[in-house]
Amino acid sequence: MSLDKTYRQVPGTTIFDAEQSAKGYHLNQFCMSLMTATNRERYLADERAYLDEWPLTEVQKQALLDRDLNTAIEHGGNIYFLSKWGATLGLSFQQMAGSMTGMSEAEYRDMMLHGGRAIEGNRIADQVREAHHASAVLPAPTEHAHISGAVFTSHVPAIGVAWDQHKTEEPYWKQVFDGYEYSKQWERENLPDVVFLVYNDHATAFDQRVIPTFVLGTGASYPAADEGYGPRPVPGVEGDPELAAHIAHSLIREDFDLTLVNEMTVDHGLTVPLTLMFGDVEKWPCKVIPFHVNVVQYPVPSGARCFALGQALRRAIESYDRPVNVQVWGTGGMSHQLQGPRAGLINREWDNRFLDALVDDPATLSQVPHLEYVEEAGSEGIELVMWFIARGALADVDDSGTIEVKHRFYHVPASNTAVGHLILENHPRATSPAGKE
Ligand code: DHB
Ligand code: FE
Repeated sequence: MSLDKTYRQVPGTTIFDAEQSAKGYHLNQFCMSLMTATNRERYLADERAYLDEWPLTEVQKQALLDRDLNTAIEHGGNIYFLSKWGATLGLSFQQMAGSMTGMSEAEYRDMMLHGGRAIEGNRIADQVREAHHASAVLPAPTEHAHISGAVFTSHVPAIGVAWDQHKTEEPYWKQVFDGYEYSKQWERENLPDVVFLVYNDHATAFDQRVIPTFVLGTGASYPAADEGYGPRPVPGVEGDPELAAHIAHSLIREDFDLTLVNEMTVDHGLTVPLTLMFGDVEKWPCKVIPFHVNVVQYPVPSGARCFALGQALRRAIESYDRPVNVQVWGTGGMSHQLQGPRAGLINREWDNRFLDALVDDPATLSQVPHLEYVEEAGSEGIELVMWFIARGALADVDDSGTIEVKHRFYHVPASNTAVGHLILENHPRATSPAGKE
């Protein structure tokens, strides 16, 4: 599946997509800085000096100094951001729009008064459309990204603390870390280029001001968060903006309404699984695309929705035309309740049936309603819905391949939680239908 960007053929029009957004990131953030009176005053006092404080290209700076909005937009500016700059200079949307058309302000206003620009002559020209269709049938690239495996693991913060404070040999913690010895070895032998890491932020990067259901990290890097006890002494995470932008495009086109975030910190939900799988490192050995799922405030997404998202994620990854090896991780769970008189609830039987069914019949398991998680696995056991994103991304789900269970571990307790862990390898058949369109 190549991504459809036919919108680029519409004449006199620039669609603000991931590519434009990457080009214009600092330009647009510069515009946002003009939302305070003090910054507007400083900008108007010396435009050049203020612009020089921002990592803009010379072309972007000159475009602003020349009031050349077409160039600013070509180089990643977006009109809603630029309207802050325009307002600073006393320009209305109509003045800004008109300035891009080659007409005088009076001519433009007059055109609008007479019904606006006509659609006739402003559609994609037939020969442009034909040339575009012809180029779209060029041979598809032969190499694509693939999903080599899925990892499922709890992400208890106390595990990170125990690791950071060198308590791994204490009997309480040794029993936990022993369950991940195989996993570290497996990662050394099967190191991916990218981990697509599904986790939930725990009131760290997102608080009650913004509650997105699904967040895809499209940024270049993510520092480890300070969750109230200082940031963990682990490296920051390097993202993969290009693959993430491709996934964003593909998933949103499949009607998954994602929130895209370029800058955020990442908490124990993401860093503890990295420690468990990679151990002590100066730099994480691969890129990580963070994917946050709201499981803090109800309504939270269903297991079935996450399972469908995982399937769409595989189509997205397999249509990326670079030979990138991707693992998908699902984190959180298993049974735990961190609140109220029922705190400490653990349900071994339910957890182990969940692990069995996750391997053997994830489609049926994904139908389990929220109530069952809360009642059987404790209020925070709801984190398990995130595992379905990783599970849905494997090839057996649509019978285009098989999976292999490499490792399974279950242990009670780590802090308040039952630790569950699975490693599944993905073996798509060579003729996998996904990624071939
Ligand atoms: C614990 C487990 C979690 O998954 C979490 O996010 C916070 C705390 C715990 O068991 O202490
Ligand atoms: Fe958690």
